[in-house]
Amino acid sequence: MTFIKFHTAPNAGPGNPNAVGQMAAEMVRQQLQDKPNSAIVFPTGSTPKPMYTTLKGMNDINWDQARLFHLDEYVSKPEFNLNHDQTFEYYMNQHLWADPKLAKAQKHYFYPHINHPDRYEQELVNAGGADLVILGIGENGHIAFIEPGFNPKTAAKAHRVYLEDSTINNNFPDKANTGYADEAVTLGLDSILSAKKIILLATGEKKKAILEKALGDFNTPPNPSIPASFLKTHPNVTVITDF
Ligand code: GLP
Repeated sequence: MTFIKFHTAPNAGPGNPNAVGQMAAEMVRQQLQDKPNSAIVFPTGSTPKPMYTTLKGMNDINWDQARLFHLDEYVSKPEFNLNHDQTFEYYMNQHLWADPKLAKAQKHYFYPHINHPDRYEQELVNAGGADLVILGIGENGHIAFIEPGFNPKTAAKAHRVYLEDSTINNNFPDKANTGYADEAVTLGLDSILSAKKIILLATGEKKKAILEKALGDFNTPPNPSIPASFLKTHPNVTVITDF
């Protein structure tokens, strides 16, 4: 049975994405209290930043046994001049993983396996699968880098993907100057949907319409044109929004 809990974060209101971050951080703290060696898969983007800031400020989380993964990664190509500081590896280190409190946590990065995403996904399988996956949502409905129109068979497993123009333009608004990526690797939909728990974060009015399209109607089946709609098939999803 599908069980999606929708929460407007306490004290939230338009323009208060911090409330979403605080609530998500509390859930991560609880997860690690309940299971100190949890395998947790983290997202990138602007939405989860307040969660990372809050987590960094929490001094009572014991990260020592945690197994940490990230959802996806850009494939860097010389012709597009993607700098290392735009990779999700850099993002994860900068926003959370390089914090001294996490020194002993196991950190799993895509980059050593950038040409073999299956091997990265196998590390997650070896960890017993994800206890918790935290997601954002793209304005085009993507989760991780599972893009609209994906093939449910090939996207079930970790794979390399050509990014939609809308994703590139959204993620690299100044791409002529900053460089960009047009390909990425992502965990597969199976890895996400086999997580014991999923948290989806959505902040800002601009995410309202796509969230409604993806999860607003439980009478329609999931549709590959809106990847996030597949969350309707998962038994334990918490959606946290500020609207
Ligand atoms: C990226 C990531 C997604 C993320 C999405 C939304 O493309 N691959 O995991 O959820 O963008 O990003 P933002 O939170 O910046 O809107």
